[in-house]
Amino acid sequence: MNIVILAAGQGKRMKSALPKVLQTLAGKPLLEHVLVTANQLVGKAKTKPIVVIGHGASAITAYLEQILKDHPGLANAVTVMQKEQKGTGHALLQALPKLDLDEPTLVLYGDVPLISKKTLMRLVKLADGKRGSDSALALLTQQMDNPTGYGRILRDTEGAVTGIVEEKDADRQQKNISEINTGIMVLPSGRLKKWLKSLRASNAQGEYYLTDVIAMAARDNVPIRTAQVDFEWETVGVNSRDQLAALERTHQHVIAMQLMETGVTLLDPARIDVRGKLSCGSDVVIDVGCVFEGNVSLDSGTRVGPYCIVRNSTIGKQVTIQAFSHLDGAVVGVNSIIGPYARLRPGADLANDVHIGNFVEVKNSKIDSNSKANHLAYVGDSIVGARVNIGAGTITCNYDGVNKHQTIIEDDVFIGSDTQLVAPVRVGRGATLGAGTTLTKDAPANQLTVSRAKQLSIQWQRPVKQEKTVASKKTATKKIAAKKTAKAKK
Ligand code: UD1
Ligand code: CA
Repeated sequence: MNIVILAAGQGKRMKSALPKVLQTLAGKPLLEHVLVTANQLVGKAKTKPIVVIGHGASAITAYLEQILKDHPGLANAVTVMQKEQKGTGHALLQALPKLDLDEPTLVLYGDVPLISKKTLMRLVKLADGKRGSDSALALLTQQMDNPTGYGRILRDTEGAVTGIVEEKDADRQQKNISEINTGIMVLPSGRLKKWLKSLRASNAQGEYYLTDVIAMAARDNVPIRTAQVDFEWETVGVNSRDQLAALERTHQHVIAMQLMETGVTLLDPARIDVRGKLSCGSDVVIDVGCVFEGNVSLDSGTRVGPYCIVRNSTIGKQVTIQAFSHLDGAVVGVNSIIGPYARLRPGADLANDVHIGNFVEVKNSKIDSNSKANHLAYVGDSIVGARVNIGAGTITCNYDGVNKHQTIIEDDVFIGSDTQLVAPVRVGRGATLGAGTTLTKDAPANQLTVSRAKQLSIQWQRPVKQEKTVASKKTATKKIAAKKTAKAKK
C-alpha cells in the first residue's frame, strides 16, 4: 500500500512562523502523530509514507531528519515537494512518480492527527486492496450536525456516491447535505495518472481538487464505498490555535479515560496531561495538575501528588511522589518517598526505600537502599551506598569549571549538615562527617572527620544602639532647622 500525507499547506490561521504540521498536540508535532499511524499500517512492508511538503519545507525536512535520529523506525518517510499549493489534487499529483501503481493509495492529511489505525485498516479493507487499478475507491465520510466548511458527499437516488462538492461550490440544496468528506480516502493507484491529469481548476477556489476524482471514478464505474469513524475526534483537523487547544483537551480526555479503564485513580480526569506514553500498574493514584512526558511507567500502588512533572522515568511499586516534584530520566525503587519539591535529573537511580526530600536535587547518581537526603542538598555524579544519611545543606562539588568529578559515599555513612564534598573524593564505610565540613581528601571508614575552625568564646561587648529620648529628638530637629536657615542665608 502507498500512503501519501498531504502537508504542503500554509496553515495561515495559525499565525505562526512554524509550519502548521509541526505544531504540537500532546507534546508531538501533528505530523508525527500521522507518521506513527502510517508506519503502523505499513508494518514491515518496505513502502515508506510519502509526505507532500511545500510551506515551511526546510523546517519539516529538518524535523524529519531529527526524528530519524531519535526514532529511526518512525522517520521511515520520503518527502515530495509541491512548490506552489494549487490544491489537494495537484498535491497528490506530485507524489505520483513515487507510487507503486500495483498497490492502492491511502491519502492522509498532516493536520488531521488523531485518525486511528483501526479506522484506516477498515477503510483499506473496504477498498479491497487488490491490484492498483482494480481496487475500489473507499471514502471516509462523516455525518455532521454542522457540516459548514466541508466537502459534501453527493449520492444518487440509489444511494451510490456520484461525487463530492466543496462548500464554496455547493448550491443551497447541496449545502443541506450532512454527510461530509473527511478527506481521507483509498484510491486505485493505476487510475490516478489519468484522473489527476484531467483535473481542472475551474471552481470557486481555482484549485485542482482531489475530490473531483470521485465523480471520475463514478463515471469509470469504479465501485465507491464509504466508511465512518468510530469517534468524531479521529477526523478533526487543526486549522487554528483554538482548534488545536480544543483537540488537545479532547485527546487528553481520551487518554484519561483509558488510564481509568486500566485501574488508575485520577483525582480529576480533566487535570492531567500525558505527552508521550504513560504505563501504570494497578492502583496508581495521580493527583491534579501532573504532566507526564516521554516514556513514564508507574508501578502498582504508586501515588503521585499534585503538580508533579515526570519525564522519561521508571517508578517502582508503592512509591510516593509528593507535590511539586520534578523527575526527569530517573529510576525510583520500591517504597521510596520523593518530595515535596524534589528534583531528580537524568541518571538519578534510586534503590528501594530511599527518601529524597524538599529542595534536594539528584543528578547522575546511584543511591542505594534506605538512604536519605531529606532537605536542601545537591547530589551529583555520585555513588551513594545503603543506609546513608545526607544532612541538610550538603553539596557534592562535582564541577571544577571544566570537568565533572565523582563522589563516592560508602554504606552507613552519616554526613552532617552543610557539608561540601569536593570531588573526586571518597567517604569510607561507616564514616561520620561533622557538620560544616569541607571535605577535600578521602574520609576514612568508621571515623569522625571534621574540617572546621576550633570554636572560641571571647568576652566582648556588642555595640549598643543609643536609645533616643524625646528631648534629644527635639534638639536634633532644632539643629537641622538651624542648619537649613544657615544654608539659606549663604
Ligand atoms: C479538504 C477537502 C474537503 C474536505 C476537507 C476535510 C479538497 C478539495 N477538499 O478541504 O472536501 O471536507 O479537506 O478537512 O480536497 N494541501 C497540500 N497542497 C495543496 C493544498 C492542500 O498539501 O495545494 C494539504 C494541506 O496542507 C492540508 C490538506 O491538504 O493538510 C487539506 O487542504 P485544505 O486546503 O485544508 O483543504 P480543505 O479546504 O480543508
Ligand atoms: Ca483543512
